[in-house]
Amino acid sequence: MSETREYDVVFLGGGPAGYVGAVYAAKLGLKTAIVERERLGGTCLHRGCIPTKSLLRAAELYRTVRERGEAFGVVADGVRFDWNRAQARKAEVIATLEKGIHYLMKKGRIDVYHGTGRLLGPSIFSPTAGAISVLAEGEADGVVLLPKHVVIATGSKPRSIPGLVPDGRRVLTSDDALALDFVPRSAIIIGGGVIGVEWASLWRDLGAEVTIVEAMDRLLPGEDESISRELRRVFQKRGIRVLTDATLDALGIEVREDGLSLTVRPNSSGARSAETLSADVVLVAVGRAANIDDIGLKNTKIRVENGWIAVNDRYQTAEPHIYAVGDVIGPPMLAHLASHEAKRAVEHIAGRRGGRVDPRFVPRATYASPEVASIGLTENEARAAGYAVKTGTMTFRSNGKALIEGEADGFVKFVVDAETSDVLGVHVIGPRATELIGEVALGMIMDAAAEEFGEAIRPHPTLSETMTEAALSVHGMEIHA
Ligand code: NAI
Repeated sequence: MSETREYDVVFLGGGPAGYVGAVYAAKLGLKTAIVERERLGGTCLHRGCIPTKSLLRAAELYRTVRERGEAFGVVADGVRFDWNRAQARKAEVIATLEKGIHYLMKKGRIDVYHGTGRLLGPSIFSPTAGAISVLAEGEADGVVLLPKHVVIATGSKPRSIPGLVPDGRRVLTSDDALALDFVPRSAIIIGGGVIGVEWASLWRDLGAEVTIVEAMDRLLPGEDESISRELRRVFQKRGIRVLTDATLDALGIEVREDGLSLTVRPNSSGARSAETLSADVVLVAVGRAANIDDIGLKNTKIRVENGWIAVNDRYQTAEPHIYAVGDVIGPPMLAHLASHEAKRAVEHIAGRRGGRVDPRFVPRATYASPEVASIGLTENEARAAGYAVKTGTMTFRSNGKALIEGEADGFVKFVVDAETSDVLGVHVIGPRATELIGEVALGMIMDAAAEEFGEAIRPHPTLSETMTEAALSVHGMEIHA
């Protein structure tokens, strides 16, 4: 007979949703546990946000020293890139952060169960479907947890496409790309979304020949069209080949010991003819799918829609005491959103208001060179929603700090309601875009109008002055244009 233990709330999954939600729950006085089958920190810490950004930083530093150092007076002969050293540094960053999470668990008296957690049927140990069995690998008899509430935060995994089966060596998922022990000399990337764009930037910085194949008519199709255009321009300037409106021909795939070749066809007739591309590796970056296999959903009434767990506006599944947050409920799949959703679910569990995170206030960030970050509606979305739209744009070329840093590509664009001057969306491409978007998130949640964004005084010289100028340019009052 398995041992049983009672909790107020148990999280399935210890990623940015699970561990943040658990700390928050503990702070609100709830007896809390996490079940994690791999390591605390989840995809974000071990196979996503943190490792990719660590490698992107290394690659960017290398390119800067190699290609632009001399312009700054930094003359370094014989510069070379040591992939293994970059990987080791990445591992150090991960280890430090992972240690931090373990400390938080201890501090919050949160129990962590290492093993696979499965929801059990209502009949076995409790009258609800909330009981969870935890089976650590190799253990025949696991532990059974009896929680009053469950939060499913099991995350997502890379999706593949028919005919292109990942083998970890030539055909790669983003997980495989992180684990490679070499930098490919050439790479084809299927998918020009966030992951495709970040890896294209990273590998190109390290000298690889990179081709992106994107089914839609532009890179980062979810971003403002002007951003996609600028990204394509800068990527092409950096020597990255961008094939949009293109898909893979499933019959034209040949994976060999020493490389591979793929046939790519244009989606619309007449544009181009089919083309065969060859490379060392292909990265498949066509989206992600929920981790819902083998977590016991069949023992519950929980509904799955289009592959994602369906939840109401309190993050409750069809079993009201079981919540789901983060990637497992579908796009947008963002670590910071997952953490916020987990906190909202916990608030509801603790008898507070809770409620859905407002999508208008969720920033998006792509860590390529150039960086892309945005919040709110694109210009087209705002028009489609019926707003009378005014926009204001300012390039980084007229910003002193951008010139000092040697990164003057890109711009800031405000999308504003012409009637009320409310800011509907802000789109940034260029240096530190992912940091600059933070102040916009605050401004938007405080309902700042474009004039207020323009009135706020930023220090000189900083990149943030471009924010001031872009906001002022909505009404033609910018100075540097
Ligand atoms: P994505 O949904 O962002 O992009 C996938 C792209 O592949 C789309 O543009 C789509 O049109 C294209 N595509 C789909 N099938 C295709 C095909 N057969 N041939 C050519 N193109 C095809 O998905 P991605 O980049 O894989 O990222 C997965 C998730 O992870 C996203 O939701 C993203 O938000 C999240 N993520 C976020 C990061 C960040 O915030 N910096 C970093 C990495 C991932």
